[in-house]
Amino acid sequence: MSTPPNVHVAARIQGFTYAIRNVVAEARKVEAAGRTVRYLNIGDPIPFGFTTPPHLIEAVDRTMRDGDNGYTASVGITPAREAVAAEYESRGMPVGVDRIILTAGTSEGIELALGAMADAGDEVLVPTPTYPLYTAVLAKLGARAVFYRTDPNNGWLPDLDDLKSKMTALTRAIVVIDPNNPTGALYPEATRRALIAVSNESGVPILADEVYGDLSFDGPCPLLGSLDPDAAILSFSSLSKAYVAPGWRAGWLTVGRTTRLDDVLAGIKKLADGRLCSTGPMQHAVTAALTGDRSHQQEFVQALALRAKLTTDRLNAIPGMSCVAPQAAFYAMPKVDLPPGVTDEDYVLALLRETGILCVYGSGFGQPAGDGFFRVVFLAPPDALAAIYDDIGAFTGDYLSRMS
Ligand SMILES: Cc1ncc(COP(=O)(O)O)c(C=O)c1O
Repeated sequence: MSTPPNVHVAARIQGFTYAIRNVVAEARKVEAAGRTVRYLNIGDPIPFGFTTPPHLIEAVDRTMRDGDNGYTASVGITPAREAVAAEYESRGMPVGVDRIILTAGTSEGIELALGAMADAGDEVLVPTPTYPLYTAVLAKLGARAVFYRTDPNNGWLPDLDDLKSKMTALTRAIVVIDPNNPTGALYPEATRRALIAVSNESGVPILADEVYGDLSFDGPCPLLGSLDPDAAILSFSSLSKAYVAPGWRAGWLTVGRTTRLDDVLAGIKKLADGRLCSTGPMQHAVTAALTGDRSHQQEFVQALALRAKLTTDRLNAIPGMSCVAPQAAFYAMPKVDLPPGVTDEDYVLALLRETGILCVYGSGFGQPAGDGFFRVVFLAPPDALAAIYDDIGAFTGDYLSRMS
């Protein structure tokens, strides 16, 4: 009997790429060849020694031991939704509890919102460089990510003219990632107001990814929606970053109070019903996080600010390299001046194979491959980072002289 052919794979899988994890396959090969890999690819604080606050762990532990292990309502448990509502109200974006949905991280919130807003063929404005989940989810929906520029020569702020020029009748949403991954940029109030003005004038809503909002080096930054609580803004966040619990997949989305978003809210709730609920015990950690002690954040942010400065100082000292100073989170997006014909992926893979240092190439975030951008996650301890930047410097000098 002949072997039947391989089972069909959906065509949309072709368009679904997520460079941050895809590069790991290359790293495994390097490890198999006997070299230690230093992973600077994933924004997870846990492997670098940062720890989840104990009162969050206690909340989850207590819930499980109390036998509260069933499904929850698909929108999530009421106390946690109330805690999110109180948090948003105190930060100037009042939204009713009924407009809050607990999600499996920011990621699921983004997927639910895009699923409720974009049909196949529709367009969503996404910044470049972007966090790649947006392009991946849009590929899955058959919708189109239309990139608007953020400008490294202007602190990685959005190019508003470029953004406006890309709006069409098919534009369904504008994605704003602020504070930003992969650039570490934090948008000033004037930029934020200008983005809201584009949304208000066009009627196109904003998807505000605010997962790094508490990790700005100058203290927690305002919610975008606080500048205009009646604007059509959906806000997303989670316990992954500022509460150091990424594996728990615990987050929320809030739908701005304007009635213009009522139908989208109903659509999101319908989709949320279909996936039953987010992880139940971890929903109790959302309550604990937002109503409890946050002192861990000061220590964490201090550690990040120190690493950001080290990163910028050291990378800018490497001939042929430049790096905009991050203002928040744990990412930097340096640029190496590559000769024509060499791509950012060529550089990053050579760096990996020759030094064991794993970064992600800028084209994985939507940057042109010849521009030479790559992303560094600077969560490692300062002495480890210093050694890594020494090695990046030595490798880069050698690589550029070989290639030119
Ligand atoms: C900008 C941005 N949005 C969303 C996410 C996903 O976060 P979560 O773990 O909450 O799903 C990340 C994770 O790195 C991110 O950087």
